[in-house]
Amino acid sequence: MKRIGILTGGGDCPGLNAVIRAVAKPAMNDWNATVIGIEDGFEGLVEGRARELTNQDVSGIINLGGTILGTSNKGDPWHYPVMRADGGLTIMDASERALGHYREWGLDALVTVGGDGTMHIAARMMELGARVIGVPKTIDNDLAATDVTFGFDSAVAVATEAIDRLHTTASSHHRVMVMEVMGRYAGWIALTAGVAGGADVILLPEIPFTWEAVCRKVVERSRRGKRFSIVCVAEGAKCPDVGEVVRRYDPSRTDAKQLGGVGDLVAREIGARTSLETRVTVLGHLVRGGSPTAFDRVLATRFGAFAARLAGEGRFGMMAALRGTEIIAVPIRDAIERLKLVSPNHGLIMAARSVGTSFGDEVG
Ligand code: F6P
Repeated sequence: MKRIGILTGGGDCPGLNAVIRAVAKPAMNDWNATVIGIEDGFEGLVEGRARELTNQDVSGIINLGGTILGTSNKGDPWHYPVMRADGGLTIMDASERALGHYREWGLDALVTVGGDGTMHIAARMMELGARVIGVPKTIDNDLAATDVTFGFDSAVAVATEAIDRLHTTASSHHRVMVMEVMGRYAGWIALTAGVAGGADVILLPEIPFTWEAVCRKVVERSRRGKRFSIVCVAEGAKCPDVGEVVRRYDPSRTDAKQLGGVGDLVAREIGARTSLETRVTVLGHLVRGGSPTAFDRVLATRFGAFAARLAGEGRFGMMAALRGTEIIAVPIRDAIERLKLVSPNHGLIMAARSVGTSFGDEVG
């Protein structure tokens, strides 16, 4: 293993730098390999933007949020957006360009750190002959084949603290506070932070809800003298008669749909139906920024070190994954077979229901 490339693709999340460090250090120090950091994910591979990483580049970054390499979710080589002279967008197949740079840089292995979009691209790069290793990241925690992705714990920590903060102001003003959190089509962040923060209502994409059940819960609390409620809603939650709330479509991305706005709708509906004073907070990208938690630093380091080993052993097409307490190798293909969604019978949902949390699906 003489030349190893690494890129971070898709939305950033805390822990990416810890992975870069854990891949680069053994490669540089133990195998005397050259580590090529590809800039802005697959966009850099298509455009030929990369730099050699030094020991100094990867030192002191375990606690840094974001990614020192930059990232992009518009770099899918098979769906590559190019701006035309008239300002319009043309989507082209730039996969040969991407492969050309992989060859030009003489890479013996390419470590791709990303979520399901990145793993889809990694799998297609493999079909073209690239030697790819995967490392699973995403705050959404929706990658099958690993129990947890790094970035998720940090996102949950921020969202939980936000609920704690909303609690005090909600209770002072006797309001219903609706908080919208990211997570795309999966409700893991809303569920976990909602439970940790003691939210009264949690709305998930995986559990259809009714306005009656949601409003019954907040009104009941009010009657019992709890004159405030916290509603934690996942951005992908599907509202009755409306479904998913989409902020906009961006054709330059492989998945053009950008979710957002469900919090407003939920707050409006609760306010109108109950006459309780209601406010909304959209956490948005706050849950993706900042330093990784200790858990994510450790997981990212374990994933990165394992990925380096996989590359050293020539086990291409594999992704590092957490199973129980062990890091194992799984085929990248397994990771992209399906999204890992919250099962309505998940133990955490059962536990939440047992302490009185509503998921908006209770029959009155
Ligand atoms: O996949 C991570 C994620 O933060 C999702 O939770 C969210 O829907 C999406 O990315 C937001 O994407 P962007 O940063 O492009 O707005």
